[in-house]
Amino acid sequence: MEPSLEYDEINYNDLKHRVKMLAQKIVEDIPEGEIPLMVCVLKGAFVFFADLTRDMGDVMIETEFMSVSSYGDEQTSSGVVEITQDIGVNIAGRHVILVEDIVDTGLTLNYLRDILLRREPASLRICVLLDKVAAREVEVPIDYIGFEIENVFVVGYGLDYAGHYRNHPWISVLKESAYKDTESE
Ligand code: XMP
Ligand code: MG
Repeated sequence: MEPSLEYDEINYNDLKHRVKMLAQKIVEDIPEGEIPLMVCVLKGAFVFFADLTRDMGDVMIETEFMSVSSYGDEQTSSGVVEITQDIGVNIAGRHVILVEDIVDTGLTLNYLRDILLRREPASLRICVLLDKVAAREVEVPIDYIGFEIENVFVVGYGLDYAGHYRNHPWISVLKESAYKDTESE
């Protein structure tokens, strides 16, 4: 067992169950006859996105991916976001569902939302797996939320610390001792 992690923040079964419920809700909300465009925010959302879209069964959707990098250190968001890989299609008139791993201060999603809305989609919904409610600095309307969590740094199920732990099939808390010594670097 990894000494710097506290396991069991959210276990595999709870993730599976909750993701299935989110998928059902998203499917129910698809406007009649429309094919939604589901957009995965890389890298953190890739595991969530893969499970979520498969839990939608054989519903017709299209998938796109975008990569963003946020300036700042590993644990805090600066709110200055650079799109390093953009969506490959025109989203004007489309029903877009943006899928993100976690909302913390809200700065990243707020920025992405502004950019996407300027492209005039028919609708834009946001789905996040994790919500650190207490850390919010800007309000962002979020349509689908998996779990509300405390203001702790979490890893696993796509989320990383320094590129590690994305493959864990559950969410763990990274102990402060794992990064506090390097904070001034
Ligand atoms: P903001 O503050 O802009 O942050 O809402 C969103 C982005 O910050 C990263 N983030 C985390 N990544 N564990 C992670 O692995 C965390 O606990 C965490 N909190 C914030 C993440 O990249 C997210 O997109
Ligand atoms: Mg992220």
